[in-house]
Amino acid sequence: MSEKIKRVAMIGAGFMGKQISAWVATHGYALRIYDNSPEALEKTEEFVTQTVEFYFMPEEVQGDPKEVLANITYHDKLSEAVADADLVIEAVPEILELKKEVFAQIDKAAPSHAIIATNSSSIPVSKIEDAVKRKDKVLNIHFYAPIYQRYMVDIMRGTETSDETFEKGGEWIESIDCVPLKVMKECLGFVFNRVWRAVKKECLKIWAGGYADFKDVDRGWRIFSGMNTGPFALMDAVGLDVVYDIEMSYYNESGNPDDKPPQALKDMIDRGELGMKSGKGFYDWTPPLEFTSEGFIKPKKKK
Ligand SMILES: NC(=O)c1ccc[n+]([C@@H]2O[C@H](COP(=O)([O-])OP(=O)(O)OC[C@H]3O[C@@H](n4cnc5c(N)ncnc54)[C@H](O)[C@@H]3O)[C@@H](O)[C@H]2O)c1
Repeated sequence: MSEKIKRVAMIGAGFMGKQISAWVATHGYALRIYDNSPEALEKTEEFVTQTVEFYFMPEEVQGDPKEVLANITYHDKLSEAVADADLVIEAVPEILELKKEVFAQIDKAAPSHAIIATNSSSIPVSKIEDAVKRKDKVLNIHFYAPIYQRYMVDIMRGTETSDETFEKGGEWIESIDCVPLKVMKECLGFVFNRVWRAVKKECLKIWAGGYADFKDVDRGWRIFSGMNTGPFALMDAVGLDVVYDIEMSYYNESGNPDDKPPQALKDMIDRGELGMKSGKGFYDWTPPLEFTSEGFIKPKKKK
């Protein structure tokens, strides 16, 4: 087995990228962060700094916040962010062509030993791998939000990913206190996202078909599962535009009209109702409600 992963580069620092960044940094890794939007980068720096300084982080986290923060750098050039990386995680929007373009840029600038992983929710890395030369070093490494509550990560190979890359990826996931969910055979939706996708699809059909009030679906889910959040509130947290793009990926893959997300969902997006991040989705999230657009629900203060 080659050298362990020590330096991680995060490419795309939006809703997921900033959470992954905060989590990875507090688990002792040197981290370089790049986003092509200066505004997003600034918000991520604010979020990561606040998370490290003020919010609850796992007990096992080593080092004091100052050391953790000194290990994080923010970049306006992708090539600088990946220059010394052992692992690069891409979390740009769910658009295949964009992911290919970003993978190609990473492949050119990252050291030859670096693993390149996508956090995509629905695109298997086998569809992106043609953009890079190092096809033996690509992975799907898929996080669930919020990470501190859903500490599991799907890991899946491309068509030429080596056993060494897969093992190294799995070990790295364990090293950040997450459970690797290993996909044995390429599967759209990986392990758990496929289960979650079936739930979403049926819930959207019940709502768009006028069969039930979405709040009753959420109430039923909460009682049945013991969770405090139902599927519609979770979709609001993820972002309805993101949910729509993911559902479209499944539809584009199968071509089955039954997989097409309802027009009513598209209408909400067109009206700017994107969920928590816009203040309105299925529910009204106007402040001062408890949830934050960062995917954290009242983070615990450090003792
Ligand atoms: N939202 C979720 O709950 C969730 C969960 C797991 C996985 N994912 C996946 O994570 C990925 C990102 O999703 P998100 O919700 O964080 O999206 P997002 O829109 O919040 O963030 C994407 C970020 O990428 C940046 N970006 C766009 N083009 C770029 C480029 N060329 N180079 C660098 N940065 C670029 C944007 O400025 C933005 O900050 C998607 O593939 C999505 O499927 C999302």
